[in-house]
Amino acid sequence: SEIRSTFLDFFQSKGHAIVPSAPLVMKDDPTLMFTNAGMNPFKDVFIGARPATHARIADTQKCLRVSGKHNDLEEVGIDTYHHTLFEMLGNWSFGDYFKQEAIDWAWELLTEVYGLNPEQLYVTVFGGDAGDGLAADDEARGMWGKHVAADRILDGSKKDNFWEMGETGPCGPCSEIHMDLRPAAERSAQPGAALVNADHPQVIEIWNLVFMQFQRKADGSLVPLPAQHVDTGMGFERLVRAIEGKSSNYDTDVFKPYLDKLSQLSGRIYGQEERIDIAFRVIADHIRAVAFAIADGQLPASGGAGYVIRRILRRAVRYGYSDLGFRDPFMTHLVPVMQEAMGEAFPELHQQGALVAQVIAEEESAFLRTLESGLKRLDAAMGEAKDGVVSGARAFELYDTFGFPLDLTALICRENGMSVDDAGFGEEMAQQKARSRAASAQKVGDWVELAQGQSDRFIGYT
Ligand code: SER
Repeated sequence: SEIRSTFLDFFQSKGHAIVPSAPLVMKDDPTLMFTNAGMNPFKDVFIGARPATHARIADTQKCLRVSGKHNDLEEVGIDTYHHTLFEMLGNWSFGDYFKQEAIDWAWELLTEVYGLNPEQLYVTVFGGDAGDGLAADDEARGMWGKHVAADRILDGSKKDNFWEMGETGPCGPCSEIHMDLRPAAERSAQPGAALVNADHPQVIEIWNLVFMQFQRKADGSLVPLPAQHVDTGMGFERLVRAIEGKSSNYDTDVFKPYLDKLSQLSGRIYGQEERIDIAFRVIADHIRAVAFAIADGQLPASGGAGYVIRRILRRAVRYGYSDLGFRDPFMTHLVPVMQEAMGEAFPELHQQGALVAQVIAEEESAFLRTLESGLKRLDAAMGEAKDGVVSGARAFELYDTFGFPLDLTALICRENGMSVDDAGFGEEMAQQKARSRAASAQKVGDWVELAQGQSDRFIGYT
């Protein structure tokens, strides 16, 4: 809580208005299923379609990266620094200050206020892109030079250093701040520069400063925005880890209460066996995504955004069932933990708490029953298996309808002296992915048709 309010207080002292987080579900933007960046609620301001309420704003925004261009779901729980739901601390300038202040204040906050060690920080700047006709951002490089030695300022590609909200929308070159959280001995043996943007679990991006200057149109072209803006986003959970000096986001105060509660509920201990730890992490992460989605009005459902929420919940329940031994609803008991941890910053957790706990409990009960019937189904599939091999189609049915991941099916088969047709499963999966891509394709044109085939008739005079 202190780290969060320090951020907001700092930017308030620099003339920013502090606003509450927007909801996770953006009902009025057809290019997005969920809020996936702190800037989403300000998209219309960037492209000049709506005036800003303040020239400078700061907040912490609930973000969910489980669909579309920014999707981290598969990494979550397996690694220690990606999340479905995370808080993005952000400061914005709408046609007001630009690169210089954004860079100076980011550095001041991290090194002087939070006291992070400058020797562990690296920054990246946009290295240019011939395809888009954009030059390298020498201006940002020069501005960083005041604070950071030249060998810690690294060139980045379009993939890492040109931020875009989606296939279309506001975008611009960006400058990221990365932190090397390896132990001191490892840092002096091998400098961290080569590990930046290389998926190293201890050398991670913490803050992204975007200099919004363009809008990407549906035909791929870039059009300059009417004004220049700043959009920054800092991963709150990673910042806490950097400040607390932990090697995993889950070892911080942000996630510890959930791990403790899970330990108490399951009788298992975190930190002894990788398989068990992954289950702890998946559940601790997913409860936050599911609870916030429901609090913001997105109930689990059989299609669209509701289906994404249902699948996240089921992923957690499945890990709890197979690795932590849960047979009764357990996610619902994490709701009070979340209220205690985050309820002050996000009052909707208290206002909607009873509904959230009830919906989760019902979803869990229903899915636990499905898991039981899936096990019966698997028994039948093993009974009909030819040469001791359960077919890909059966394994896929278990995955798709009963939420059984392939490794669980394979494990149970092995326990019964059988195996699974992996290749057949892979083919079914590829077909399913193609089907779901087609079904979840979002509207990304510059124009949205509101009412098809209807013409307007002016009746004002009558
Ligand atoms: N929009 C940028 C991001 O999401 C910075 O806030 O990383």
